[in-house]
Amino acid sequence: MELLPGQRAMDMGCGTGLALPALRTEVGPKGAVLGVDLTPAMLTAAAYEGRASLAQLLLADACRLPLPTGSLDGIFSAGLIDHVPDSAAALREWARLTAPGGVLLLFHRSGRAERAARHGRPLDPDDLLAEENLRPALNATGWDLLCHEDAAHHFLARAVRVD
Ligand SMILES: C[S@@+](CC[C@H](N)C(=O)[O-])C[C@H]1O[C@@H](n2cnc3c(N)ncnc32)[C@H](O)[C@@H]1O
Repeated sequence: MELLPGQRAMDMGCGTGLALPALRTEVGPKGAVLGVDLTPAMLTAAAYEGRASLAQLLLADACRLPLPTGSLDGIFSAGLIDHVPDSAAALREWARLTAPGGVLLLFHRSGRAERAARHGRPLDPDDLLAEENLRPALNATGWDLLCHEDAAHHFLARAVRVD
């Protein structure tokens, strides 16, 4: 994420909180880390793994968060955005929460081709995560795509919140 000590980070769709230790390391003890998920069992599992001591855990929908505008410096989200029914609403809400200059990191443990192959289907030209679809989707919702890596074994898109 390249966040600074003392900054405010969120893991959107945090699941069992695998990324929470890394986010806490980045922002340090004076920073804020929030793990958000819609599934109570995921947050229970995150707490069971001891991750509630690293982050505040919040049960909420990615499209409607009970947080003030501009209250975050960075949002990390792995394996969520292409499963949210209204991805534009989610990206718009994440932009509302993020201060200008803040970062959005979309991540997946496998690249698009690897995932398509695993599901026995060809690459979908309408896939939100394809660069030609993601760039305009981000532009329309308050983000500027800076980096798009669709590698064999990972997917990573980095965007910055524009004013
Ligand atoms: C594929 S899992 C990824 C979990 C975690 N980010 C990881 O990489 O291990 C997707 C997660 O998103 C959560 N989720 C799905 N829809 C959501 C929504 N609308 N708002 C918040 N979380 C959601 C699910 O409950 C699940 O924990």
